[in-house]
Amino acid sequence: MKPIKVLGICGSLRAASTNMGLLRFAREHAPAGMEINIAALGEVPFYNADLKQKPAAVQALLADIKQADALLLACPEYNYSLAPALKNALDWASRETDNYLLAGKPAAIMGAGGGMGTARAQYHLRQVCVFLNLHLYNKPEVFSSAFDGSYDEKGNLINEKIQGMVIEQLGALQNWVARLRS
Ligand SMILES: Cc1cc2nc3c(=O)[nH]c(=O)nc-3n(C[C@H](O)[C@H](O)[C@H](O)COP(=O)(O)O)c2cc1C
Repeated sequence: MKPIKVLGICGSLRAASTNMGLLRFAREHAPAGMEINIAALGEVPFYNADLKQKPAAVQALLADIKQADALLLACPEYNYSLAPALKNALDWASRETDNYLLAGKPAAIMGAGGGMGTARAQYHLRQVCVFLNLHLYNKPEVFSSAFDGSYDEKGNLINEKIQGMVIEQLGALQNWVARLRS
């Protein structure tokens, strides 16, 4: 079997991002048969339909999404919703012909944030994913606090319980991709 290629997309751009820490941990602990890459969003501009020639960072993002069998969306919570960098990445991808980059693609969501561990933002993101026709895996969910010591000063995930949840989610995503393929 070819390995499942998963693309991580992180809604936070800061160097010590805890959401990026979640994705890094996932990449380092991907199960056998799964490879995780992480998209570079730092240079991706806001979606603008006037940009007929797509900027290089957008082209790279779209190519990464195209080759991915599944998406792993790391979703910070900004003002009760998903962060703009993540929404912007999905907006760019959604404008390709017939939404072919996203429609039917399996995906899972994880997040690190304030009091509710990004629950509000994640459920908002799920609503967005309905329109995009991404096939989200429901459980296990990964909610975590960015402020309770679960992450070190560089944003690395150090909480063993959350680490276990991420590993469990990756296994579930792998099964989900296999089910959708069969
Ligand atoms: C503009 C802004 C709005 C935020 N609003 C919320 C919020 O509504 N709920 C919440 O739990 N955290 C909120 N936070 C805190 C973020 O969830 C927190 O900074 C999180 O760690 C960001 O992820 P990062 O570590 O990956 O950068 C907000 C942060 C910013 C910058």
